[in-house]
Amino acid sequence: MPELIAPTSRLHRQWLAARDDWGRGVHQDGSGLRPGDEVDTADGFAAWIRGLLRQSDPAVEPEPDWVHCTYWWVVEGDEVLGSIALRHELTDALLSWGGHIGYGVRPAARGRGLARFAVAQVLAYAKQLGLDRVLITCRESNRASRQVIEKSGGVLEDVRVSEEGPIRRYWAVTG
Ligand SMILES: CC(C)(COP(=O)(O)OP(=O)(O)OC[C@H]1O[C@@H](n2cnc3c(N)ncnc32)[C@H](O)[C@@H]1OP(=O)(O)O)[C@@H](O)C(=O)NCCC(=O)NCCS
Repeated sequence: MPELIAPTSRLHRQWLAARDDWGRGVHQDGSGLRPGDEVDTADGFAAWIRGLLRQSDPAVEPEPDWVHCTYWWVVEGDEVLGSIALRHELTDALLSWGGHIGYGVRPAARGRGLARFAVAQVLAYAKQLGLDRVLITCRESNRASRQVIEKSGGVLEDVRVSEEGPIRRYWAVTG
């Protein structure tokens, strides 16, 4: 059974296996991994995890232009299958393009309903956080993500043109 857990340095080896499934240097939506993050050594990985957990801590001021954000991993046993992030509020850029929620599933685990499962869990958490609805966006060309959003109750507000092409913007009721 899949579940969402907080990122943990305990699963370093398993996380690296998932990363290698995506490919080194490949952007993993919803993971919080940024170019330059050093995740191959135990110390680097632990520091990265601490940074992810700090981002959700209301006592810690976010970096300029960033907002508080909670990250989870989708796991089955100790196997890391995906990640999902909930930004606690919207900046102008998040309102236009990024949305509240980002997610990604490792290639080998796609098509099993894991993204929909993760979004449903996070919609419930968002309600606890005091959000009545959340913005979820995807590129017009991302058919899988579009399915995930629409089956999660997302209602299309509009399609905006971005540097990366048209972006579909949906609102989903939390709970
Ligand atoms: C988008 C993504 C998270 C979906 O993850 P997933 O766990 O495979 O999604 P699910 O299995 O929950 O559902 C996918 C839905 O899209 C459909 N789908 C999958 N691939 C598809 C494709 N290439 N074209 C059309 N539909 C597709 C599936 O059939 C399923 O629909 P269904 O419920 O009607 O069967 C995954 O493909 C991914 O990580 N992609 C790269 C990162 C990304 O795009 N993240 C989202 C950014 S907005």
